[in-house]
Amino acid sequence: MNAAVLVPAAGRGERLGPGAPKALRELGDIPMLVHAVRSLLAARGVTAVVVAAPPDGVAGVRDLLAAHLSPRSPVQVVAGGATRQESVRLALAAVSAEYDIVLVHDAARPFVPAEVVEAVIAAVAEGADAVVPALPVVDTVKEVAAVDGAETVVRTVDRSLLRAVQTPQGFRRAVLARAHAEAGGFGTEGATDDAGMVERTGGTVVVVPGSEEAFKVTRPFDLLLARALLERRAAEAAIASTDRTEIDVVR
Ligand code: CTP
Ligand code: MG
Repeated sequence: MNAAVLVPAAGRGERLGPGAPKALRELGDIPMLVHAVRSLLAARGVTAVVVAAPPDGVAGVRDLLAAHLSPRSPVQVVAGGATRQESVRLALAAVSAEYDIVLVHDAARPFVPAEVVEAVIAAVAEGADAVVPALPVVDTVKEVAAVDGAETVVRTVDRSLLRAVQTPQGFRRAVLARAHAEAGGFGTEGATDDAGMVERTGGTVVVVPGSEEAFKVTRPFDLLLARALLERRAAEAAIASTDRTEIDVVR
């Protein structure tokens, strides 16, 4: 079953600190957005990608993708909006009518494994309205409130029932379109995930296993993690090619 993936990439990356828009910052000489699009295109079933670029940088993003991707890559670029939600809505409007399955993936999650993307598509193809990849929460989580000016613990949340949600999130197209159309009524311009909007419209959201490699680059520390992951992948690729050479020699 084929899917189109929307890639909101129009954010400033304020928590990362001063610099270019986050999706355009380089990890190992390659812009984060390019890593993300390559990760998506590596998954079976992804046959269209629509990137929502910073509104003042659409032409630049087109050039960048053309420079790094093969010429036949099924990638379009549209202008994103002032919020993530608006960027997703604008990208959705550009998806060809033939797609019944639409995923939304943050450009800021450049290393999502193909298996996660494929599991999300499979769950939508099997009938789910909405699907999120998620991981168990590892930290103990406490709810707090200001008491006499001091941040004070109200209670400890049962961690076993909590999940940290990632992207790509997958949807039956009509479900995502309705959630975005109705979201205005909830005053939720600024939603940080699309499945949350489906929950508010009464839809069911199914969970599949996420991956630590699908982490979001948000703060400067995440850049260290991203670079370490790239180095490990390069080392693994070098070992794999050495192994192949040895097999050839044995043959
Ligand atoms: N995004 C977008 N349009 C916006 C805001 C965010 O397309 N107006 C995208 C970002 O580019 C990113 C994804 O939504 O790929 C997730 O958002 P986040 O991690 O918050 O990125 P930024 O908004 O860029 O970062 P910050 O909140 O630190 O400024
Ligand atoms: Mg943001």
